[in-house]
Amino acid sequence: MEKVLYGKPLAALIRARIKELIAEHGLAPRMRLIQTGNDPAASYYVQNIVSSGAKLGCEVQLASLPANVGQAELLSLIAAANADPQTHGIMLQKPLPRQIDDALAGAGIDPAKDIDCLNPVNLGRILLGEDSLLPATALAVLCTLGHYRVPVAGRHVVIIGRSAIVGKPLANMLLWKKPWANASVTVCHSRSANLEELTRGADILVAALGQAEFVQPEMIKNNCVLIDVGINEQKRADGKPGYVGDIDYNACYGKALAITPVPGGIGSVTTSLLFLNLLKAALAAQGINKTVDDFLDFIFKE
Ligand SMILES: NC(=O)c1ccc[n+]([C@@H]2O[C@H](COP(=O)([O-])OP(=O)(O)OC[C@H]3O[C@@H](n4cnc5c(N)ncnc54)[C@H](OP(=O)(O)O)[C@@H]3O)[C@@H](O)[C@H]2O)c1
Repeated sequence: MEKVLYGKPLAALIRARIKELIAEHGLAPRMRLIQTGNDPAASYYVQNIVSSGAKLGCEVQLASLPANVGQAELLSLIAAANADPQTHGIMLQKPLPRQIDDALAGAGIDPAKDIDCLNPVNLGRILLGEDSLLPATALAVLCTLGHYRVPVAGRHVVIIGRSAIVGKPLANMLLWKKPWANASVTVCHSRSANLEELTRGADILVAALGQAEFVQPEMIKNNCVLIDVGINEQKRADGKPGYVGDIDYNACYGKALAITPVPGGIGSVTTSLLFLNLLKAALAAQGINKTVDDFLDFIFKE
């Protein structure tokens, strides 16, 4: 196993698979990307999605709504995208403004077009071990483990973070009865007692809490695999903005068997998987239903 689990080579393989499938099926996948307000980090991510789509041959239609958009207006925009047969996937860029109910907005997206997995139907399918449109970040963690041949089955995976978009779906996907899952899982959060005791028990530790360099060497055991989902903006010595993860990379490197960098780790894989979801939705609209194993057989082979 390699020591540094880089995301870019894996993202390149996923993008190549997407292009291959688009050509094979003559598809014109189209995403409706809805941004509310102008949060700089969200705008950066949105521009990244738009340019990635162009490179992949997917159309991304961006709807930029003001920060004071009302719930009814947002829901009617989502309803219009649901009803449009040329739109295969809908993505709602977070964070949403305070006046918007996140759960209502997510539930408003047609489950068949819910490429960011916000609809409770898709989250419920994950709980039941059924294939669905899967949350890209959680899937990026599993793809990274699979690609770098990190043994997962039977291992103890500890996740710090219980959000509906990362920690909870990832925990449930790790429990799937699949050769690339079948893990024993512990999920920790801000109220967990003896957090360090729990994290020291991890064969694989996933940090998804949004606290810069939170995980320190005394919190991990020797030769554990460290997966860093966190992306935290931090001013560099030269005053320019930089990014660090939820794991103190330099401090933990020596003790770890393998580690994902930030940037250049999980985040680099996530956007390609969002487009894989778009492709999956576009194929399903043509009556072609592919599972995650069909799409990612080159990663999840036994
Ligand atoms: N790489 C990617 O593609 C990608 C995608 C999405 C998010 N992210 C990043 O991943 C991180 C998590 O995102 P998120 O949306 O899941 O965050 P979130 O919704 O804020 O959830 C954070 C979770 O971490 C827990 N937590 C916070 N502080 C903690 C502490 N001191 N000890 C233990 N648990 C603690 C919280 O516990 P409570 O539930 O008790 O509050 C919560 O469950 C962020 O850095 C975000 O930027 C990366």
